[in-house]
Amino acid sequence: MSQRESLAGKWALVTGASSGFGVEFATLLAQQGANLILVARRVAPMEQLAGRLRGEHRVRVVVEALDLSAPEAAAALKTRTDAHGIAVDVLVNNAGYGLYGDFVGQPLERTMNMLRLNVVTLTELTHLYGADMARRGSGHILLTASILGFQAVPGYAAYAASKAYVLHFGEALHAELAPRGVTVTVLAPGAATTSFGDVAGQTDKGTLQKLMMSPRQVAEIGIAAMLRRRASVVAGFRNGFIVFLNRFIPRALQRRIFRRVMAGEI
Ligand SMILES: NC(=O)c1ccc[n+]([C@@H]2O[C@H](COP(=O)([O-])OP(=O)(O)OC[C@H]3O[C@@H](n4cnc5c(N)ncnc54)[C@H](OP(=O)(O)O)[C@@H]3O)[C@@H](O)[C@H]2O)c1
Repeated sequence: MSQRESLAGKWALVTGASSGFGVEFATLLAQQGANLILVARRVAPMEQLAGRLRGEHRVRVVVEALDLSAPEAAAALKTRTDAHGIAVDVLVNNAGYGLYGDFVGQPLERTMNMLRLNVVTLTELTHLYGADMARRGSGHILLTASILGFQAVPGYAAYAASKAYVLHFGEALHAELAPRGVTVTVLAPGAATTSFGDVAGQTDKGTLQKLMMSPRQVAEIGIAAMLRRRASVVAGFRNGFIVFLNRFIPRALQRRIFRRVMAGEI
C-alpha cells in the first residue's frame, strides 16, 4: 500500500472509541471514507459518535459494546465482525488505561484487569485480525503504547511495563508482517487531555500539565505514521526529545526522574 492509499470503503475497527484518542482516530478514519466498528463498554457516547460520523461522512458505523478486559472478549468481537461479514482492513488497538499509585497497595484484581486489556486482549485482537490481513496480503494495525513504555516508572509500575510490551511487540510484528503487506505501527503518546489521568487516579500533574497535547494532535500523528508504514512514532517534538534524552541517562536516574515527574514534584 502506498502512502496515498485510499481508505474509502474499507473497514476500520477502533477500540476505546467512547472517549479520548479513540474518538479522534474514528473521526480521522471516517474523514478518509473508512467504515467503522467502534468498540468500548459505554454505548451512549459511541452511538452519538456513530450518528455524527454517518451524517458528516456518509460512512457505515457499527457499535459493539464490550468489556475488552474480559477473557474471551477478543474472540467474541471477532465472531461478531465475522457475523456482519466484515473484513477489517485497519485495526486500531487503542483501548487501555493506567493505574497510578503504590503497586502492592492496590487490589491485585484491578491490575490484572488492566493487564488483560492493555496486553492480553490487544495481543489476541492483533493475532485474530492480523492473521486475516496477512492472508489477504494487506492491512494496517495501529497500537497505542505510551512514552512511559520506554523506561521503568515507579507509581505506574505495571502500566508502564504493559506499554513496554506494546512497544516491543508492535515493533517486532512490524518486521514480521511488513513483507506480507501488513503494517504494524506503535504510537507512543505522552500526556494528553483525555480522561486518562482521572481514570488512573493521578491528580498532581506538575510538569505533565505543561506537556499536554490534544487528543486530535496525537491521533493525527498516529494515523499519519500508520499510513507512512512506520514501525513506531512518539507523539510530538517534546515527547520525542524526552525519549531521545533518555538514551543518555542511567536507568537508575531515569526511575528517580520519572517517579518525581509522575508525583507532580517537578
Ligand atoms: N491520555 C494520555 O495521557 C495517554 C498517554 C499515553 C498513552 N495513553 C493511552 O492511550 C489509550 C487511550 O486512552 P485515552 O487517553 O484516550 O483515555 P480515555 O479517554 O480514558 O479512553 C480510554 C478508552 O478505553 C476504553 N476502555 C477502557 N477500559 C475498557 C474495557 N475494559 N473494555 C473496553 N474498552 C475500555 C474506554 O471506554 P469505556 O470506558 O467506555 O469502556 C475509552 O474509550 C490508552 O491505551 C492509554 O493507555 C494515554
